[in-house]
Amino acid sequence: MADPKPLVGVVGGSRSDFPVLEQASALLEMFEVPCEMRVVSAHRTPDHLARYAGEAAGRGIRVIVAGAGGAAHLPGMIAAHTQLPVIGVPIPTQHLGGLDSLLSIVQMPRGIPVATVAIGNAENAALLAIAILALSDPALADRLAAYRAAQTQAVMDDPSNRLIRD
Ligand code: RP5
Repeated sequence: MADPKPLVGVVGGSRSDFPVLEQASALLEMFEVPCEMRVVSAHRTPDHLARYAGEAAGRGIRVIVAGAGGAAHLPGMIAAHTQLPVIGVPIPTQHLGGLDSLLSIVQMPRGIPVATVAIGNAENAALLAIAILALSDPALADRLAAYRAAQTQAVMDDPSNRLIRD
């Protein structure tokens, strides 16, 4: 059987971003949300970026997770070329620890928003994409509720947490 059409595009400015971004694709797979992974660079492949973002909605993509490091234009430039929700993942960097990536992504001027997660937190980007998709997919909403309930239970069941509980 052919692979289901991807609903989430996970894109990074460089292959070097994918050790972080693979945390997002792993979580999406766990939730049975089909995704695609692509290298799309704002400064090295600007025409490819415009094409990718411009065609994504027409191919059935519903949310884009975009990770970049340094002067991280990728999420904002993707958002400029599509009305799909874009979630930016600031990639940790060698010299500034990812603060450069964070500020580049989160400080979008008004008019074109990018939802931004914490530095390196691609899992949260996937969870936000899942929450968006779950608005129109009750089975996915149930899986998200079960995931969150299991997370809560794990904290409550961990005996070492009793030290800091009432
Ligand atoms: C950005 O430059 C990428 O998002 C990456 O985080 C950073 C470094 O890229 P490489 O030099 O590792 O290809 O475009």
